Amino acid sequence: MAYDLINEVVTTKKTTQDNRSDSTSPTLQFVNELHVADEVRAFVDTVSPDHPALIVQQSKVDDAYDLLTGALSPAVCFYAVKANPAPAVLRTLAAKGSCFDVASRGEIDLCLSLGITADRLSYGAPVKRPSSIAYAHDMGITLFTSDCEADIRALATNAPGARIMIRIAVESVGAEWPLSRKFGCPTERAVMLAQLAKELGLIPVGISFHVGSQQTNLDAWDKAFARARALFDDAAASGIHFTLLNLGGGMPAHSSSLAPNIAAYGQGVMARLSAHFPDRMPNLMFEPGRAMVAEAGVIAATVILVAEAEDREGDHRWVYLDIGRYSGLAETLEESIRYPMIVDGRDGDLQPSVMAGPSCDSTDTLYEKTPYPLPADIQAGDRVWILAAGAYTASYSSVNFNGYEPLETFVI
Ligand SMILES: Cc1ncc(COP(=O)(O)O)c(C=O)c1O
Repeated sequence: MAYDLINEVVTTKKTTQDNRSDSTSPTLQFVNELHVADEVRAFVDTVSPDHPALIVQQSKVDDAYDLLTGALSPAVCFYAVKANPAPAVLRTLAAKGSCFDVASRGEIDLCLSLGITADRLSYGAPVKRPSSIAYAHDMGITLFTSDCEADIRALATNAPGARIMIRIAVESVGAEWPLSRKFGCPTERAVMLAQLAKELGLIPVGISFHVGSQQTNLDAWDKAFARARALFDDAAASGIHFTLLNLGGGMPAHSSSLAPNIAAYGQGVMARLSAHFPDRMPNLMFEPGRAMVAEAGVIAATVILVAEAEDREGDHRWVYLDIGRYSGLAETLEESIRYPMIVDGRDGDLQPSVMAGPSCDSTDTLYEKTPYPLPADIQAGDRVWILAAGAYTASYSSVNFNGYEPLETFVI
C-alpha cells in the first residue's frame, strides 16, 4: 500500500529521459527528476564557499509544516529539533506555531534562547541524564517520554508531578533508518510502567512510539496503532486513563527514487488510526524531523578526486567528494539513506561509481555495495548537489575529523 502511494508519485513524475533510461537503475529516475532551486544556486554563486555547505530554504520548511500538519491534523506538531537545529529553522517553525521535541539540555537551552516557552517543549528522549531531567523541570518542561523503570524513578525524583508518555517498541520494517530496537519497552510492560509512574507521583498521560525513520510502509503504523489501542484499554482496566497518543516521527522525505506524497501518506496513517480508535480519538501529537526539513536542504559539494577502476581493486571507479560520512553524511551508514544527487554540467552516460568521502578512513565510503550512477565524464572540481539533505546532516557532522570542517548551514 505504502509503496503504491509513493510510486504513484514517482511514476507521474517520469521524464522523457527517464523513459529512455535503463529500468534496472532506479536511481536514474530521480537524477533526472530533481533540480536545484535558482535561489540556492544564486546563493552559492555569491557566497562561493570553499567547503561543503548546506543551504536550507526557509520557505520550504514553512511549506513542509503546512503540509505535515494538514496531513496529520488534528495532531499537534512537535518538531524533532535534532533533525536540524539551525536557529533560523526553529524560529520559522516557532512562528508557524510548532511545538518542539527536545533530546537534551543543549536542545532545551537552544529553544529557550529563541524565546520558545517551556510549555511548547516535550523531552522525548528516553535516555536522559538525571541532571538534565532536573534542569528541564526547573525550566518548566512538564511533558516527558520514558520507557524503563530506572528512568521513571529518575523522573519521579527530578521532575515530580511530570506528565509521562510510555514509549513502546514497535516494528520498524520498511524504515530506511530503523530506531526501534534501541528504545521502547515491550508492549506487555507499558501498563506496569504507567502504574509505577502513578505510584511515584507522576502523571501517566499516554503512549508514544516511533515506527522508524523514513518509514514508507503504512503497515508499520497499523501495527503500532493496534498495540497502542490495546494499551489504552488495558490501562483503563487498571484504572489509568490515557488521553494522549504520540505518533513520533517517521514520515518520509525524498530518498533514493521515492518521492512520497505526504498528503496521501497522512491520509493513510490517519485512516489506520481511526480504524483502531473508532469510538474515541485520543489527543494526538507527532514529532516529525526528517519530513520537515530534509527537502528544504541541499548540500553544495565538490568532487575532489576520481580514481579510475584500474587504480582500485574491484570493478568500479571511485569518486571522492569533499563531504563524507563524518562531515555530514552519517546516514549513508550501511547505505541506508541514498541521497538524490545532481552533477552540474555533465549530462553524458551514467556509470556506476563507488562514492566516498575525503577522510583517511575506509568506513568513510558512502555507496559501494550499490554503486551510484554518475556521469561518465565527471571530474575533480565538479559541483555535486546533494538533495533532500536538510535533515540529520549538519547536526551529525563531526567537528574536525581529519581536519575537515563541520558542515556549515546557511538558511536562506
Ligand atoms: C523521539 C524522537 N522523535 C522524533 C524523531 C524524528 O524522527 P523522523 O526524523 O523520522 O521524523 C526522532 C528521531 O530520532 C526521535 O528520536
